[in-house]
Amino acid sequence: LKRDERFNKLTQEHVDYFRGILGSESAVIDGVTNDKAADDIEPFNADWMRKYRGHCQLVLKPGSTDDVSKILKYCNENSLAVVPQGGNTGLVGGSVPVFDEIVISMSRMNKIIDFDEVGGTLVAEAGTILEVADQFLASKGYIFPLDLGAKGSCQIGGNLATNAGGLRLLRYGSLHGTVLGIEAVLPDGTVLDDLCKLRKNNTGYDLKQLFIGAEGTLGIITKVSIQCPQRSKAQNVAFFGLESYELAQQAFREAKGQLSEILSAFELMDGGSQELVVKVTNNKRPLEGEYPFYCLIETSGSNAEHDGAKLETFLEDVMEKGIVADGTLAENETQIRALWGWREGITEALSHLGGTYKYDVSIPLADMYQLVEDTRARVDAAGLLGDTDEHPVRAVVGYGHMGDANLHLNISTRRFDKRVEECLEPFVYEWIQARQGSISAEHGLGLQKKKYISYSRNDTAVQLMRRVKSMFDPNGIMNPYKYI
Ligand code: FAD
Ligand code: MLT
Ligand code: ZN
Repeated sequence: LKRDERFNKLTQEHVDYFRGILGSESAVIDGVTNDKAADDIEPFNADWMRKYRGHCQLVLKPGSTDDVSKILKYCNENSLAVVPQGGNTGLVGGSVPVFDEIVISMSRMNKIIDFDEVGGTLVAEAGTILEVADQFLASKGYIFPLDLGAKGSCQIGGNLATNAGGLRLLRYGSLHGTVLGIEAVLPDGTVLDDLCKLRKNNTGYDLKQLFIGAEGTLGIITKVSIQCPQRSKAQNVAFFGLESYELAQQAFREAKGQLSEILSAFELMDGGSQELVVKVTNNKRPLEGEYPFYCLIETSGSNAEHDGAKLETFLEDVMEKGIVADGTLAENETQIRALWGWREGITEALSHLGGTYKYDVSIPLADMYQLVEDTRARVDAAGLLGDTDEHPVRAVVGYGHMGDANLHLNISTRRFDKRVEECLEPFVYEWIQARQGSISAEHGLGLQKKKYISYSRNDTAVQLMRRVKSMFDPNGIMNPYKYI
């Protein structure tokens, strides 16, 4: 990948202009004229996995939509490339610069603007941290319709930009359904005010949908309006071990049938992923024995006792039928959190063990886990499995949102290694294409899957995306070098 010479290099004059707009000293981190800023800029250049590293020398932190508009207008007129950055928890290298693009960090735009306590509509600035939004909603008896392991740092604007799926999509649906409106700034500084608060609005093209999942390639989302459901009074969690993937599928069918309207999550973890969590946390496992597969079920309803009894009956039934080998039910909030830790903690555990090659895919359930087995066999046959310097792969594991047919295939290595990457790519993408799956279920394409979009989208669709991109961003300043 080469730096695009259409983009200008930053000068003192540019920096002075941005300082003039933003006023406050802390809203500009300037490594262009100040060598000492390098340490402060470093976190904006490195992604969460430490796999991608940019070389930006300027970070701008707008405080208002007007700031964003002025910044983008100037960048567009002066051919300066930019990368919007939220919480920088993205897992595909989309949130960090590749070369010297300016980072526009949304962290200062974090105000909750409005909440309709009857309708459940939340309006907030895009830099609001997901967990902060959810805690605000909890105080009103509502819940944010998205939850994920990075909730403490990711921002709702970043969530929209990646169209994040997370742990309860099964219950609350995708952001394409729950987001009611957005305000966004286009690359030329135009503000698109589509901050609709209505559930129904069929007046022409639904433009906001283009920004949901665009990964910052069309403009910067500055405000979000979202439909939030009532927070359930009761939450129950079960965790169980199974002897095969086939049985996990049967358990899913039973869960849908028996728990129906109270089912709010159905998550899958293989034995390997749980071993990695044990290795890093040293926590005592929730079940006595060890199994090749584990599932976590969550219910959310209005009556803890009633839901608990339902979940208990379900667990007894699936154990009697020989579907589930062993299981446990959380008895209180602490246990609920501990059981969720075995699922949500996998990503973090992996990050402590060196490099991880991550593939976030969607494949019809029947075939889904076969990808992990075929990948493991391939890595082994290539002599890469062994957890030594010569054979750097520690484990090939799978986990994910089984309720949404979304698998996370992860290859844990001592360090990022070209040999491993070449063994995995394009193998994994070809495997998925052959089954009409998606190479990007919920994380996006970013830089990681830049070359591979055509494994899941046909030429007509890709060409149309290019035309949309060039209509919104004719100078290509928005998050360049990434997937489009
Ligand atoms: P960033 O990482 O900062 O940015 C992501 C992309 O969005 C970039 O392309 C960036 O340019 C763009 N962007 C950011 N803000 C804006 C904006 N305001 N306007 C326009 N573009 C913008 N993802 C899931 O889908 N499901 C999960 O369950 C899940 N779990 C995770 C668990 C962990 C521990 C971690 C580290 C990540 C997880 N992720 C998950 C991935 C990640 O958290 C999500 O993709 C999240 O939505 C990214 O939000 P962010 O604010 O960190 O965005
Ligand atoms: C998850 O479901 O845990 C997240 O998408 C993060 C990951 O894939 O590791
Ligand atoms: Zn996920």
